[in-house]
Amino acid sequence: MLSAAQQTLWNPGDYLNFASERTQPFIDLLSRLQLPDVRRIVDLGCGPGNGMPVLRALWPQAEILGVDSSEQMLQQAARTTASDTGITYLHADIRDLQLDEPADLIVSNAALQWIPEHRQVLPRIQQFVADGGALAVQLPGNFSAPSHRLLAEFAGAEPYRAHIDPHSLLQPTAEVSDYMLDVAGEGWDVTGWETRYHHVLSGEDPVFDWIASAGARPVLQALPEPLLSRFVREYKAALRQAYPPTEIGTILPFRRLFFIAARTG
Ligand SMILES: C[S@@+](CC[C@H](N)C(=O)[O-])C[C@H]1O[C@@H](n2cnc3c(N)ncnc32)[C@H](O)[C@@H]1O
Repeated sequence: MLSAAQQTLWNPGDYLNFASERTQPFIDLLSRLQLPDVRRIVDLGCGPGNGMPVLRALWPQAEILGVDSSEQMLQQAARTTASDTGITYLHADIRDLQLDEPADLIVSNAALQWIPEHRQVLPRIQQFVADGGALAVQLPGNFSAPSHRLLAEFAGAEPYRAHIDPHSLLQPTAEVSDYMLDVAGEGWDVTGWETRYHHVLSGEDPVFDWIASAGARPVLQALPEPLLSRFVREYKAALRQAYPPTEIGTILPFRRLFFIAARTG
């Protein structure tokens, strides 16, 4: 069954307002791979398809399958890549992943954190990596940042808490070393690292817009009016204090976690 957070309705347009910032970690993740012969790629939680041009540029001949549980995201992705017949999509839950044949590369950018038990799902995903192939993952590691702390504080306080399922708040991700050990084993070479990005955002409430288009969606969707408007007003004000505008824009520090498991045979 889908958790409260996973039942989120996505707005691909809002999400793609930050496409460049959200795709950069994917570019950085893929730049660490040494895989010349990639024929089959699977992108888990592909969202609106923002990663597809990156994959296509690196592996022009590969067949690419995007997997996502959101109809809205998949519709947007299919529109974006309509002219590329080598890219197909599957509406499915990552936890139930089934592939007819192994993939040379399985990637996932900013998606697994939506599955509370994602660490237990990693072995299932790894079994679909072909010999000589790799699993490459990026996850956010910013759950103690003010954006998330404030969201949890507001959501847990009156008068909002009665409307909000505590499971709709994303659970913090683990440490890079935890994930490295999760995917380690005989026949696997494992790498991991983390990067703290400093995104420069524009607009009046850019950090609110950022989180409202992703991690805060389940909370916002749970609130009826007029509570929603009040919550948005208060949360925006707190975010403006935590992330004040500067002469170059609003700076959003964002820690991201990366790991790669390469199958050596
Ligand atoms: C934050 S978006 C990431 C989109 C894209 N990968 C990117 O690089 O920006 C997370 C995506 O994961 C999908 N997702 C969350 N839980 C999922 C699950 N259990 N199975 C499949 N997709 C899931 C969501 O529908 C959403 O499109």
